[in-house]
Amino acid sequence: MNILLIGSGGREHALAWKIKQSSHCDTLYCAPGNAGIGRIATNTDLDTSDHDAVIKFCGDNQIGFVVVGPEVPLVEGLVDALDKVEILAFGPTAAAAQLEGSKGFTKDLCEEYDIPTADYMRFNNAPKAKAYVRQQGAPIVIKADGLAAGKGVVVAMELDEALDAIDACFEGDFGEAGAEVVVEAFLVGEEASLFAVCDGTTAMLMGTAQDHKRVGEGDTGPNTGGMGAYSPAPILTQELIDEVMTDIIVPTMAGMHQKGMPFKGVLYAGLIFTEDGPQLIEYNVRFGDPECQVLMPRLKSDIVEILMASATGNLLETEAEWSDEVALTVVMASKGYPGAYEKNTVIEGTDRAEAAGGLVFHAGTAIRDDKLVATGGRVLNVTGFGKSVTEAQKNAYSAVKQIDWENGFTRSDIGWRAVERESE
Ligand code: AMP
Ligand code: GLY
Repeated sequence: MNILLIGSGGREHALAWKIKQSSHCDTLYCAPGNAGIGRIATNTDLDTSDHDAVIKFCGDNQIGFVVVGPEVPLVEGLVDALDKVEILAFGPTAAAAQLEGSKGFTKDLCEEYDIPTADYMRFNNAPKAKAYVRQQGAPIVIKADGLAAGKGVVVAMELDEALDAIDACFEGDFGEAGAEVVVEAFLVGEEASLFAVCDGTTAMLMGTAQDHKRVGEGDTGPNTGGMGAYSPAPILTQELIDEVMTDIIVPTMAGMHQKGMPFKGVLYAGLIFTEDGPQLIEYNVRFGDPECQVLMPRLKSDIVEILMASATGNLLETEAEWSDEVALTVVMASKGYPGAYEKNTVIEGTDRAEAAGGLVFHAGTAIRDDKLVATGGRVLNVTGFGKSVTEAQKNAYSAVKQIDWENGFTRSDIGWRAVERESE
């Protein structure tokens, strides 16, 4: 079967790497892909917002299965368009993708189905939102309702910051995404993510991970797409996993089914572990990036069988087998990220990093004049393995050291929370 993968990040390189190992995969195409994906798949310059063009590509290339990596095409309804012409695709419909596309939608669902999450209010104008925030006081959390590429959340420690964030949303800083605002109570606790593959009625655990969203060591500085991750997340004990599945994932699936928008695809629960137990911070409707770069290498089962079972409603008969090893990935980013950065700087030594036992997943890379160059903010993900987070961290950073890239930087402490715990 020929497979088309949509996306161009480290997540998609990890998916491509795993899909290529499947006995079900003949030719793998990726739209648009990156330099790393280009080594194992055929990259194509498709405009994935143009659904007719995607459908035509599928026909021309005998595509039997489409795997959608990022959220934007899902929210735009790519899976709905493919469903209509009976092309099998992995991912939720646009209606079900509202779990990521509208924070207000998700909060209402949580309220209706008694899913633990922070108290909240939804607003469509600044004066009412500000009056509520003044009444509640800081710290408080202000969120643009729609997709804002991870930038639409302000955790305001001071009242002024919260009021400014409300103005920024309604003045159009996030375009349409900020036309509505969710104001949320501030929760305190450690964060981790749980992934569940779903087929509309059944949810199957697809691993746990902890991301590092801030750019600086010790989780300081501005938010990024994610500077590194490891899996499994030891904070999610089996008991807590069971609690999250029962109290959060299962009622979400049931609620979505009842509303006539059954959820298929991967449900990524961003969780915070408070004194009152696990609470849902947000849902994403896709694999995490960089979390996918630590999940795929730990998965022993055939990924295509799992993704197809999700798309066809056959998860009940499917199992996922995992390696006991810990995987830890370090993101190498262009200096300046998440702000402005130089492009087309040359990278060398990715082969040496792999020879040293790392797995290198590309994000913003391209080949120019036969050289590997950085074209994005997050550029490479170097994954290492070990029996503990401490060992996986050591191995990942040894591989990182093999890479020569003057304009690149990493955080030096990915995994620090777990490493600290392991040394206790
Ligand atoms: P989100 O985009 O919803 O994941 O939010 C980004 C980050 O903001 C999360 O990873 C948390 O660190 C933080 N955050 C979001 N909501 C809350 C909340 N209610 N209380 C405390 N921190 C939050
Ligand atoms: N790593 C955060 C995300 O994928 O949204």
